[in-house]
Amino acid sequence: MNFPSLDHIEKTDITQFQQDLLNWYKEEKRDLPWRYDQDPYKVWVSEIMLQQTRVDTVIPYFERFIEQFPTIEALAEAEEEKVLKAWEGLGYYSRVRNLQAAVKEVHEQYGGKVPDTKEAISSLKGIGPYTSGAILSIAYGVPEPAVDGNVMRVLSRIFSIWDDIAKASTRKVFEEAVRRIISKEDPSSFNQALMELGALICTPTSPACLLCPVRDHCHAFHEGTADELPIKTKKKNMRHVHLAAAVLQTEGGEVLIQKRPESGLLANLWEFPNTELSGHGHPKVELELFLEREYGIESTLDKEPFAKIQHVFSHLTWDIDVYKGTMASSVPARERSRLVSSEEVEQYAFSVSHQKIWKQAKKNGWNHS
Ligand code: ADE
Repeated sequence: MNFPSLDHIEKTDITQFQQDLLNWYKEEKRDLPWRYDQDPYKVWVSEIMLQQTRVDTVIPYFERFIEQFPTIEALAEAEEEKVLKAWEGLGYYSRVRNLQAAVKEVHEQYGGKVPDTKEAISSLKGIGPYTSGAILSIAYGVPEPAVDGNVMRVLSRIFSIWDDIAKASTRKVFEEAVRRIISKEDPSSFNQALMELGALICTPTSPACLLCPVRDHCHAFHEGTADELPIKTKKKNMRHVHLAAAVLQTEGGEVLIQKRPESGLLANLWEFPNTELSGHGHPKVELELFLEREYGIESTLDKEPFAKIQHVFSHLTWDIDVYKGTMASSVPARERSRLVSSEEVEQYAFSVSHQKIWKQAKKNGWNHS
């Protein structure tokens, strides 16, 4: 296939480019726990964690996760609830559900060895083109591209590529770019060096061009267009939902929590009872009516919310008004709700927004209300 937007690669001294990039990476690479060995399982876990989360945040999660589930077998056999708990706070929980499902498949179908071909590895749940390329190159030394948003930013500048990176089809252009420039001797370091350059030098705003090891090869630097690249059109259709949630306490100090449905957003995670608001009427009244209808609870809620929490998902924003209140001790038993002591609350895997709610509740003197 012809890629007119890759014309600048033809004018690049690729051998020199690879050398400059790899020498810099050898000297400057960060000491990250998933770089201590090339265990494909650890590379896999790290890449899934790093998908929507910053390196600094991931490090302690990665270390704890690997300590708890050190091998394919350990994760394949772990209880889902424990796995979700270990992931709690990283968000985007479908990542870890898919990871565990795929790890089970590797355990059962591949004798516990992560496959080393593009075809087999890509058939696993949650492994798209980026992750398969990352595992194949980093763990197995296969010269496959691993193109994410950071790599697209770096390459769009170096080779002056003006395709819109918000469009799904653009990734193919960048994969082709990597195929043309990747080091066949050391694909692992090469792909990681591109990621490292994106993280340390070629940052989204104010790139540190004067410190860049491949500045001489960079078209955007020479043309003064680094600040204009990459081209990324805005996503539309961000949906806003207004919710009200209740942190309800019994006289004995127990708290009502509920488990989300088995499928869909944040499936099976725990949360405080909440309802989407219609926009008509007072949130507190709507919430009280919901609690009565849904749980048969007569609650007394504070007049005003003690916290307002915002949580942004990729296509959805939640604005949650959180009320404190009291309720009678006896709640009619429901399959997916529980009354738990305030110490027990933290043993359940909560969604990030509801962890924030609990944090705020404790700050607001939860035990003394
Ligand atoms: N971002 C995505 N993958 C990464 C990796 N392996 N090292 C550092 N940052 C990354």
